[in-house]
Amino acid sequence: MEKTKIKRIAVLTSGGDSPGMNAAIRAVVRTAIFNDIHIYGVKGGYQGLINGEFSMMSKADVGNILQRGGTILKTARSMEFMTEDGRKNAYENLVAHDIDACVMIGGNGTYTGALKLHEEFNFPVIGIPGTIDNDINGTDFTIGFDTAINTAIEAVDKIRDTADSHDRLFFIEVMGRHAGYIALHTGIGSGAGTIFLPEVGNSIETFVQKLRRSARRKKLFNLVIVAEGNKNGNAFEIAQEVQALCPEYETKVMVIGHLQRGGSPSCFDRILASKLGHGAVSSLLNQEFGQAIGVINNKINLTPLSKAIEKKNDLDVDLLNVAEILAL
Ligand code: F6P
Repeated sequence: MEKTKIKRIAVLTSGGDSPGMNAAIRAVVRTAIFNDIHIYGVKGGYQGLINGEFSMMSKADVGNILQRGGTILKTARSMEFMTEDGRKNAYENLVAHDIDACVMIGGNGTYTGALKLHEEFNFPVIGIPGTIDNDINGTDFTIGFDTAINTAIEAVDKIRDTADSHDRLFFIEVMGRHAGYIALHTGIGSGAGTIFLPEVGNSIETFVQKLRRSARRKKLFNLVIVAEGNKNGNAFEIAQEVQALCPEYETKVMVIGHLQRGGSPSCFDRILASKLGHGAVSSLLNQEFGQAIGVINNKINLTPLSKAIEKKNDLDVDLLNVAEILAL
């Protein structure tokens, strides 16, 4: 097959923002410039591709962003890009701007869009995993996950103080969409008594028995981490059900919500983003297209986008057992 000589690359962020996206943009831009490639930032994700919002970026444009949360390129979930017409417009704009390849930073939805562009128009793309959910195949960690769990445990530590002082039972809901990585890590990192996960069913009955055992030991204070995608309902619904069965407990609910998406990226996320951003541009130069970049066992790894978007099923259930034992 004829090789695509890469001279101009575009980069965009799409889907939910995640801390470290800016560090990834910086790495992509600077690696491209180091290799004498013209690099264009696309504003507002796939919608920016459709609207033709391209601007050439310099080294200075990505100065002072390594430590900043959010994304300087802005992000969105474009409905128009989900249509064939929308994607055709996007492709035509890429061609009109003489772009040879595109780097897409985001999660599952972003990768699905990148794959479509690659399959429908044979357009060279590469995906960088930027999502707090950590639910992408082909990488041990996604950019933003580490920062998000650190933000979450900081919040839970604070709740612990007041929960302990008042002997209250707190249900704390964390993000993660359909995956329990954030909940599991937050639960272990904060020493929560129970974790409700999407990947393993929780029985309210068993949970209530556990609570009653604690109550017999005069322990009325308890922290429960609820993954938003768990099968028992949201934190309010679970709390209501438990409160009805255990009126002796004073229950409270806290939804950490979008707080988990903001803030300065952790050192881990900055390094991960730098490695992956550099790796993504290098891979495009090596004619690796339609791939998602990641790290496995600390080594750069490429996975076809079609595989990267399959449901990730490697949640460490042993860790859950550890959490249960340590929280007794
Ligand atoms: O995918 C990242 C994420 O923060 C999920 O954890 C959450 O379910 C979703 O995005 C929230 O999306 P929005 O910001 O559109 O409400």
